[in-house]
Amino acid sequence: VQSGAKSKWRNASGSEADAGAAALREEVLATIRRDGPVTFAAWMERALYHPEHGYYSSGRAQIGRAGDYFTNVSVGPLFGRLMAAQFREMWEVMGRPEEFTVVEQGAHSGEFARDVLEAARDWEQLRYCICEPFPVLEARQRETLAEFTTKTRWCSAPAGLGGFVGVHFSNELFDALPVHVVRWTGAEWLERYVGERDGEFQWVDLALSSERLTERVAAIPHPLPDGYVTEVNLAALDVIADIAQQLTRGFVVVVDYGFARDEFYAPHRSSGTLRSYSGHRVFDSPLELMGAADITTHVEWTSVIEQAQSCGLQVAGFADQHHFITGLLAAGLVPPNEATSGRALQTLLHPAQLGMKFQYLVLTKGVSSKPQLAGLQFARC
Ligand SMILES: C[S@@+](CC[C@H](N)C(=O)[O-])C[C@H]1O[C@@H](n2cnc3c(N)ncnc32)[C@H](O)[C@@H]1O
Repeated sequence: VQSGAKSKWRNASGSEADAGAAALREEVLATIRRDGPVTFAAWMERALYHPEHGYYSSGRAQIGRAGDYFTNVSVGPLFGRLMAAQFREMWEVMGRPEEFTVVEQGAHSGEFARDVLEAARDWEQLRYCICEPFPVLEARQRETLAEFTTKTRWCSAPAGLGGFVGVHFSNELFDALPVHVVRWTGAEWLERYVGERDGEFQWVDLALSSERLTERVAAIPHPLPDGYVTEVNLAALDVIADIAQQLTRGFVVVVDYGFARDEFYAPHRSSGTLRSYSGHRVFDSPLELMGAADITTHVEWTSVIEQAQSCGLQVAGFADQHHFITGLLAAGLVPPNEATSGRALQTLLHPAQLGMKFQYLVLTKGVSSKPQLAGLQFARC
């Protein structure tokens, strides 16, 4: 046992949300008592996606000012409007196919989809499909998108798409995927599991849980200080592989925060990027608020790109949000009005706000490998 998480967890209000998180915590503690420690990835999977009580899967997650954290989507409809313009240009670059589907994964309450569909009312060929594994979120999305029933459909996972022409889009999906946490002892890598002591979750360091993880940690650059803790996101690689398999022709746009491999695994980042958010407060130990808080890590972009390439996708470009949105505006894709000059634009664009926080990875399949896209015109790679 390496360290204990001093629990700040409370069930003070007795509200439904607290009851769900409490039930989850008790269930996972009981499983650990019975079967022994679980990998952090399995623990995080339950914390966020337990079928009944997970932070996201229960519908408890609140995004926005009154919730736990902000995203581009919660800034308002402008983000969807800007991306709708980029999607339309992609459709044009592809030679205006008869049908063009925006497939969104991680759509949460469906606001982004609504913003895109509203901005693109006159775009006949547009179809929208949400990949949503959680019934409570699908129900919310159907309500949000009630006026677009002829253009929308749902599937529970990319495998259910049966191939598509268009663009796969995600905003902050990859940062919410369960990760393995590993620790460099100075001589070897161990994996951080979650155990239990005196009714609290405890970190426990054990051997790496799989061959696949062993292969991935071998790619982490050295030297690193003893006790260095970091994450490996195997789920991100699976998501990319699933999307690549389903995309017949078109684009993949991944919007998220992260670093290239050398920066992600820089020696100074000795406690990794794993964070937990509740009520806009950051908690360093995710073990404190199981089921009641968001848990997130930065994306390690180099591995995502390598995986995409090995699955037959090409990199069209990579840009930070500031440059991507500046490119869209400079190309005149979005007519200037109050929505492109107000506070929402400043929040998305300003380098000290969200402008430098997010990056855009644009991938292609069956499209000219360096398509001329407005969002990528100022990209550095
Ligand atoms: C950080 S939130 C982002 C929500 C939204 N895109 C936004 O930007 O406001 C992550 C979302 O990804 C969803 N998610 C996680 N794994 C998923 C999967 N395999 N398929 C679809 N959605 C998933 C979660 O349920 C959650 O709604």
